[in-house]
Amino acid sequence: MASLFIKKDLKKLIADAGDPNASEHSQSGGLKRHLSALNLTLLGIGGIIGAGIFSLTGMAAANYAGPGIVFSFVIGGVLCAFAGLCYAEMAAMVPVSGSAYAYSYATLGELIAWIIGWDLILEYAFGAVTVAAAWSGYFISLLHKTLGIELTDLVLRFTKGPWESVVLADGSSVAGIWNLPASFISLFVGAILYKGIRESASLNNIIVFIKVAIILSFIFLGWGVIDAINWNANPAATGLAALVPAMAESTRNGQSIMSYGWPGVLTGAGVVFFAYIGFDAVSTTAQEAKNPQRDLPIGILASLFICTAIYILMALVMTGVVPYKELAVPDPVAVGVDRIVALKGWSTSAQKTLAFSVKFGALMGLTSVILVLMLGQTRIFYSMAKDGLLPWFSELHSKFQTPHKATVVTALFVALCSGCMPMSLVGELVSIGTLLAFVLVCLGVVILRVKHPEIERPFKAPLFWFVGPAGAVSCLWVMSGLPHDTWARLFIWLAIGFVIYFGYGKRNSKLQKASS
Ligand code: ALA
Repeated sequence: MASLFIKKDLKKLIADAGDPNASEHSQSGGLKRHLSALNLTLLGIGGIIGAGIFSLTGMAAANYAGPGIVFSFVIGGVLCAFAGLCYAEMAAMVPVSGSAYAYSYATLGELIAWIIGWDLILEYAFGAVTVAAAWSGYFISLLHKTLGIELTDLVLRFTKGPWESVVLADGSSVAGIWNLPASFISLFVGAILYKGIRESASLNNIIVFIKVAIILSFIFLGWGVIDAINWNANPAATGLAALVPAMAESTRNGQSIMSYGWPGVLTGAGVVFFAYIGFDAVSTTAQEAKNPQRDLPIGILASLFICTAIYILMALVMTGVVPYKELAVPDPVAVGVDRIVALKGWSTSAQKTLAFSVKFGALMGLTSVILVLMLGQTRIFYSMAKDGLLPWFSELHSKFQTPHKATVVTALFVALCSGCMPMSLVGELVSIGTLLAFVLVCLGVVILRVKHPEIERPFKAPLFWFVGPAGAVSCLWVMSGLPHDTWARLFIWLAIGFVIYFGYGKRNSKLQKASS
């Protein structure tokens, strides 16, 4: 029993990561150190801004929180700030590529580390699957609605998986065959990751620049035509509380539900939590950062702060230009652009150009999210395999020095799942998996402060005795609001993980072998 909770020696773990102050060309565990603080911040932004803001926000506003979705974003941002501060402390103290998996190996023992590593597959690989499907939706909308390209029925059936329905030209619905665009983007991103961390970071930098420029233009253009009446969702309330509509009935998936009010704002926070996922992926590149102890906290916290500010402004503009009930669409930002153009009295060609820019920006944004999440997944697989808990994945490519086997398997897995899995199954699973990882990291940081106060901490989370426990409790609280079937799927996933751990991981664990 004790061997299930065998722990890595923290000092050895840090030593295994190589010299964190090594120069750009030196090797650390074989991975190349190329990433600067700016690269890391841009990777964070690349991983955060995506399907959450471009697809989910509208539904969350229309169904749960109204213009009060702004508060949902504030709550999501505060919750992630707690977790982000804990991640930053851990990442600076233990700069290894396994992120939360590696931290828990040294603090909570092998079994918990396995659980968290296995759980992170939900966040990173399934996160990439979800975003690849959103990418496909925006891609088809760009081709068909914006560029006016007619798609045949057969082509349409290759835009959705077999468990989802497609509306054909004559209005009839049939089952899809395969989500080809989603599989394509997953393999394309996989190829870039295979090639190298420098190439991946460069592509990410360009994409982030484009998507942030487009988002800032949206905010800037929209701010001038906000109609404050749209924010006054509850005339009986005063001040900021007027943003939150009174409790009322709304519809979700055709079913009537009670929502709005502050409970609706909290449910909205659970939904838009997805929009924040990705900042922690920065910590998986610890062994590729030039100066991880200083730059990882910068990358994690700066990207989180910038994205929270962007989200709050986006939410204010979206709900300020479009009445919130009209935002129940998969592309709320595009609806916002149409309204801005109409309010400004611009021409149809301006409308087309802007609609094209927004969809292009969304496609770029989603691509970088897929890139960062898949990058995180490959580094987690790499670390687990280095410890003997998984086979093959620790091998590095002789020329590119990337974990190429982990990359190929991740890309194929994401391409396969995004081609056929129903998205309604996956999205909330990603959120619950991420929240569980955050809980364990917040707990791990508290445990380390108690058990190893002597270890040098290049970054210390402020107000720690509040931040650590508050991070764990608030993540648990958001988890508790997720549907029962999502919990059931989490337990099934963890049960599969236990089978693999006891069938393979425990027997091949290097730590177990060394101690026996
Ligand atoms: N935060 C990422 C997104 O919204 C996962 O797409």
